[in-house]
Amino acid sequence: MHLPFVYLSAALAVHVSAWSHPGLLVTDADISRIQTKLADQKEPWVSAWAYFESLSFSSSSYTPNAVSDIERPVNGEILWHDAAAAFNLALRWKVTQEEEYAEAAAAILTAWGETLTTFSGGDDKYLSAGLQGYELANAAELLRDYAPFIEDGWDPFVDMAVNVILPLNIAFLNHEEPSQHNVLHFFANWELAQIASIQAISVLTENTTAWEFAIDYFKNGDGNGAIGNAITTLVEEPDMGALLGQGQESGRDQGHSALDQQLLAAIGQQAWNQGEDLFSLNDSLILRGAEYFARYNLGHDVPFEAYTNGIVSYTDISSASRGATRPTWELLYAHYVQIKGLDAPWTAAYRNNTLEYFGGLFEKGIGYGEGSGHYDGVGWGTLLYRLEEEDLEAIQRGTTSTTPQSHASTSSASTASSTMSISSSSITTPTTSSSSPGVSTSLSSTTGTTTSNTGTSTTEAAVRPTLVHGHSHHHEHSHGHCKA
Ligand SMILES: *[C@@H]1O[C@H](CO)[C@@H](O)[C@H](O)[C@H]1NC(C)=O
Ligand SMILES: *[C@@H]1O[C@H](CO)[C@@H](O)[C@H](O)[C@H]1NC(C)=O
Ligand SMILES: *[C@@H]1O[C@H](CO)[C@@H](O)[C@H](O)[C@H]1NC(C)=O
Repeated sequence: MHLPFVYLSAALAVHVSAWSHPGLLVTDADISRIQTKLADQKEPWVSAWAYFESLSFSSSSYTPNAVSDIERPVNGEILWHDAAAAFNLALRWKVTQEEEYAEAAAAILTAWGETLTTFSGGDDKYLSAGLQGYELANAAELLRDYAPFIEDGWDPFVDMAVNVILPLNIAFLNHEEPSQHNVLHFFANWELAQIASIQAISVLTENTTAWEFAIDYFKNGDGNGAIGNAITTLVEEPDMGALLGQGQESGRDQGHSALDQQLLAAIGQQAWNQGEDLFSLNDSLILRGAEYFARYNLGHDVPFEAYTNGIVSYTDISSASRGATRPTWELLYAHYVQIKGLDAPWTAAYRNNTLEYFGGLFEKGIGYGEGSGHYDGVGWGTLLYRLEEEDLEAIQRGTTSTTPQSHASTSSASTASSTMSISSSSITTPTTSSSSPGVSTSLSSTTGTTTSNTGTSTTEAAVRPTLVHGHSHHHEHSHGHCKA
């Protein structure tokens, strides 16, 4: 008698998939948390928000400057400025619900959708398509329940994203440029930007093929954006014995290494919000890379293993731009230390260091300064990711949808209170971490449905979002129905 039921469940597991929306760098849980902090007059959120609102990129009087061709060294800043404004305005709308901001954000995205047809020039076109690709898609993802955008701007924007940006992202990771006959030719940040953009566009358009391509490339690709090449080597921390991850750009300079941390964090977060845990991949390799970077950039020594990709060779870590930072560390701290309960001393210290850099109270975000390096990610980590004890408890009780969680996750209430050091033993003996209480329970419960975006044949078209009443449409446990 059970047979037909079992058969049906198995069939559903294959064919039903669920995307979480908004589900890139910002979720509804993040929005509600900011709203609550502001309503409660909590610092540093109030100060961070006041600063955020003060930027011209967050102002509803910002108007689009779309052009048909972007050639990064010539006019790249037109695009990154507008991407900054689109994201900030979309976020401002989500938090305040004041329509003027949605309208201004939609005008920007619509204008670029209707106008941008090419990226030209040399290799730099991939940087623009990657970095601004993921930023623009993040902005659009926040507007997917703003009806006027869905009615008038969605189609042109999505057409542009899918036909102008995405093909560049994919071609780059397929190593179609002649210079890529050596697949390691480009430094990690180039490929990481493409991965972030493909992820973002595929969530926006619910494109399973593109999503799987990006995730698979990150896990198994052969270029420097794949996790195992972006973090080239595990080295033992002096006196401590933890394994730290030497970065692919460590021998180049610390500014680009900081960019790699920023992009790895974004890729991890965009995956996490779809129920795919790249943060824990290979015994938290992203964290090991962050710990290596942070320790060195705080003025301490790190081991360095000679690196070459056949084009450049480094025998020592580079002290160029040592101490560089990006708005990255609130995200990494919240995820690894708070949500996962891991011990990450250098990341914790680098968060503080970064807060100091930004003036002491909060991490700034896109639009806070000029020069391309200020526009490689959206930032605003204090607003978007910082968790207080009560927020963490709510997550552990499963009462917020900060991460897509299966129903089983409500039993892992001890997650954050268990502290686990990323010692060398936890990587040389992988079973150590998987038998560790809190963390592994949490990991398995949040990753139990990581294939929920896969195997579907129903979401290939770039579907227009269905508008629902009200704006805040939570999809807690949206992956739950994928269980077999
Ligand atoms: C989905 O992504 C693939 C690349 O992985 C692309 O070729 C295809 O056009 C996309 N489909 C839609 C409907 O956007
Ligand atoms: C990550 O772990 C998987 C499974 O153990 C392994 O096959 C792969 O080589 C590892 N990759 C890296 C980059 O360490
Ligand atoms: C970071 O700053 C906070 C607040 O001042 C402090 O409590 C914490 O100990 C600092 N952490 C590190 C690792 O320096």
